[in-house]
Amino acid sequence: MAENAKHLLLVDDEAALREAIAERLTDHGFTVEQAGSGEEALARLADFAFDVIITDLRLPGVDGRAVLDAALERYPDIIAIIITGFGTVKDAVNAIKQGAADFITKPFQFDALLHVLKSALEQRRLRSENAYLRSQLEERYRIDGLVGRSRVMRDMFQLLETVAATSSTVLITGETGTGKELAARAIHHNSPRRANRFVAINCSAIPETLLEAELFGHVRGAFTGAVGTRQGRLEQAHKGTLFLDEVGTMSPALQAKLLRVLQEREFERVGDSHTVKIDVRILAATHSDLAKMVSDGTFREDLFYRLNVIPVRLPPLRERREDIPLLVQHFLQKLGSEQVPPRNATVSQEAMRRLMAYAWPGNVRQLENVVERALAFSQGRSQIDVTELGAEIRNAPAGSEETSPWFPDEGIDLERYIEGVELTMIKRSLERTQGNKVQAARLLNLKRTTLIEKLKRLERAPEA
Ligand SMILES: Nc1ncnc2c1ncn2[C@@H]1O[C@H](COP(=O)(O)OP(=O)(O)OP(=O)(O)O)[C@@H](O)[C@H]1O
Ligand SMILES: [Mg+2]
Repeated sequence: MAENAKHLLLVDDEAALREAIAERLTDHGFTVEQAGSGEEALARLADFAFDVIITDLRLPGVDGRAVLDAALERYPDIIAIIITGFGTVKDAVNAIKQGAADFITKPFQFDALLHVLKSALEQRRLRSENAYLRSQLEERYRIDGLVGRSRVMRDMFQLLETVAATSSTVLITGETGTGKELAARAIHHNSPRRANRFVAINCSAIPETLLEAELFGHVRGAFTGAVGTRQGRLEQAHKGTLFLDEVGTMSPALQAKLLRVLQEREFERVGDSHTVKIDVRILAATHSDLAKMVSDGTFREDLFYRLNVIPVRLPPLRERREDIPLLVQHFLQKLGSEQVPPRNATVSQEAMRRLMAYAWPGNVRQLENVVERALAFSQGRSQIDVTELGAEIRNAPAGSEETSPWFPDEGIDLERYIEGVELTMIKRSLERTQGNKVQAARLLNLKRTTLIEKLKRLERAPEA
């Protein structure tokens, strides 16, 4: 950080605390300026483009929210970190909605602030790096065990590769069987932590009374049956990655403990007062809608924000049907090579059409099972046909991906979306007509010149 030290504005009206923090931040290579009031902060912001602003929300006179507003309005790229008082999580969450990168609750230890600051910086770098990588990297069709050729999955592979380089917390969401665990493993295997352990714990599979000890470990006599001292999964993942699967099922008490781990990187074993410090990267997954659970009051909002630092959403298979042929081929190879003698089967066109039309409620896992079953039933034959697919797929009404477009929580860019649909339809019409623009225009009910104009415009449009 030395030659391009980050310029940081620290705003707090408690002079002693402010100066102590400023000193330590300076030791860590930041160039720090201080402001003791909102007014002073506004004046400094008017003069200088800081990289980072850390401000207390509660300030006499012009308060922290107004300072935050002014900072973000003037410098949309500034990294803003909010300091809040104990028990004012709502304010912190509002500040995040307003555009702050993160928050920290008073009283805090300097290390916790440093952690928040570093991960905010890392996220920012990641965002610009990701945009850069998109333009630089050769596109890939797989990462670890995940394969896919749809636009969403190719973007996903790039996202996974980019986040792998960081130690940010990632929340992986998606329906059952969409590959959440595979994505978590891919992040770990591509990360600098790959030489250390990937420890997975499924929060819904362990009875709530045991989960705490499983996660944090326990000392002898901590509870009935605790005969020895045992390391928890967190400690096992030291220097590596902890994967918290089905994190939405955690009890409120455990949610609070997990929040502390995420904020302070420390915890105590059950029955022990000694504090354990760890260096662990946390990946979490859930098939439930955590944002909704937050609004229902069943999941802590602050924990949600801590986990959702980088959201990764795996789309259901029915929204990326163009992945189906590649997945089928992948499973045929994988399963075929496990058989004795190895088999090299293919799928008939009609069977592939059925596979592509089916809705796949169980997503990729279900597809894998169907391929496995079909292989078993087609013993000996080199081609899998419709009869081997099983009744539910054979008899399913043909679905259509256009009938239920997916609307993501974070919203969409409607114009880009519509351009995407336009481009898909135009490409399909051209495929259908072997590239004949006159015939394609007719199928699209467009004038030929309109089609050509649209093609030019769409092909020029940056694929961000
Ligand atoms: N893109 C993919 N490419 C290849 N295999 C995949 C892909 N996605 C999922 N699979 C396979 O599908 C199965 C389910 O994947 P995984 O266990 O990662 O899903 P999940 O989202 O964690 O499901 P659940 O919510 O039920 O736990 C695994 O066998 C995995 O290998
Ligand atoms: Mg899973």
